[in-house]
Amino acid sequence: MADLVSMDKIVALCKRRGFIFASSEIYGGLGSTYDYGHYGVLFKQNVKNEWWRAMLQERDDIVALDSAILQHPRTWEASGHLAGFTDPMVDCRTCGQRFRADHLHDLQCPRKPSKPPGDGPDCSLTEARDFNLMFETTMGPVKDSGATVYLRPETAQGIFVNFKNVLQFSRKKPPFGIAQIGKSFRNEITPGNFVFRTREFEQMEMEFFVPPDEAPQWYEHWKQARMEWYVELGLRPDHLRLREHDPDELSHYSSATADVEYLFPIGWSELEGIANRGDFDLTQHAEYSGEKLEYFDQQTKEHYVPHVIEPAAGADRATLAFLVDAYDEEEIDTPSGAQGGEQRTVLKLHPRLAPVKVAVLPLVRKDGQPEVAREIVAALRGRMQTEYDAGGSIGKRYRRQDEIGTPFCVTVDHQTLEDRTVTVRERDSLGQDRVAIGELGDVLAAWLAQPWVSPKLGPT
Ligand code: GAP
Repeated sequence: MADLVSMDKIVALCKRRGFIFASSEIYGGLGSTYDYGHYGVLFKQNVKNEWWRAMLQERDDIVALDSAILQHPRTWEASGHLAGFTDPMVDCRTCGQRFRADHLHDLQCPRKPSKPPGDGPDCSLTEARDFNLMFETTMGPVKDSGATVYLRPETAQGIFVNFKNVLQFSRKKPPFGIAQIGKSFRNEITPGNFVFRTREFEQMEMEFFVPPDEAPQWYEHWKQARMEWYVELGLRPDHLRLREHDPDELSHYSSATADVEYLFPIGWSELEGIANRGDFDLTQHAEYSGEKLEYFDQQTKEHYVPHVIEPAAGADRATLAFLVDAYDEEEIDTPSGAQGGEQRTVLKLHPRLAPVKVAVLPLVRKDGQPEVAREIVAALRGRMQTEYDAGGSIGKRYRRQDEIGTPFCVTVDHQTLEDRTVTVRERDSLGQDRVAIGELGDVLAAWLAQPWVSPKLGPT
């Protein structure tokens, strides 16, 4: 089923509900930087937690790392970023704008939007020049005499330069992995499409070090494992695909790369890359640092440089994909029972990703209902993200919770005061169950733990 949600609708929902909004808004915003509000923070944190769960909790061959954003400048010489992390760009002498030379056909001339830059009547483009995407800054108190350092453009290099450290303290041997989540920075020439491409973003990268002859099989393993992760968290399989790079697309360090692609509103685009990086990184850092970055195999009595398989994902891009996949608009019955009388926008998110798991709503703000609702919130909040909401009509509150993807709404009503039961409304089916307050925590926890498939896929 084709998904018709536009990026504009996603941006509007994110702003309306405070998930994600333009950064520095009171100063007019700062090109393609975004801030995450309350629900956005909870949501993206859940995405990252699921990644950690898959990497650390469900396996015992990967360890975690949190390396510094600022690294020794030699890191970027060794990795090849200083010399080669460039995009070709052109400037327009007429409008003063800068464009990626290899993306011109996808872009609009600012003065004549029906044409790509260069095709407008007044366009005057310069020759293409290479532009390094790393952000530079100066280390030390005096700008002139300080050393130039770079904001890392990927988290991966922090892992490679720590290979020896981690090998020593983790008591692991290849095949084993080092995983890291953190901010990366790229001075993209043409950022855009909301949080799809920004200049500051978060990556979730794992470098898996293997004996060289095992690299092809681990490459296959990680392609499959990463596809399964997205599907398990609810992305529709027909909106996901794995695209193997052609030989002329491969980075200088890679012998094989595949992209996990998702059908975003802008078309099929990269969500994550899985690369066989060979021994490029460890060999380079060994050469530039003078340290031996290899593994001594006790059994064969041989030293070797492990090869690396790297699944590299973007936390913001994954969050965007989950949002797009979950977004739905539908007509439902009104709370009073009128058929098809109400429109709702709903995020049909995997319950594990939903920012709030349960909202507790007193039907009216009197008769002791708010007090019981508060008591329920206090009992649930230690177990799951819980929200109390008493503002507005019950229909309006359901709509609000639907829009942020809350899987369960608990309503406290007149009957609650008599028999200590509440109504639990389920977001996707709109089914309602009567549950005893004393059992609510266990019942909700069990429902949240159940396997989930997107209701957009229809009955299975
Ligand atoms: N260490 C390999 C590496 O960094 P990459 O394909 O350049 O590979 C990995 O980046 C992932 O990081 C991408 O698949 C994407 O999800 C995310 N990413 C890269 N550039 C981004 C940007 N400008 N904005 C948002 N996410 C980005």
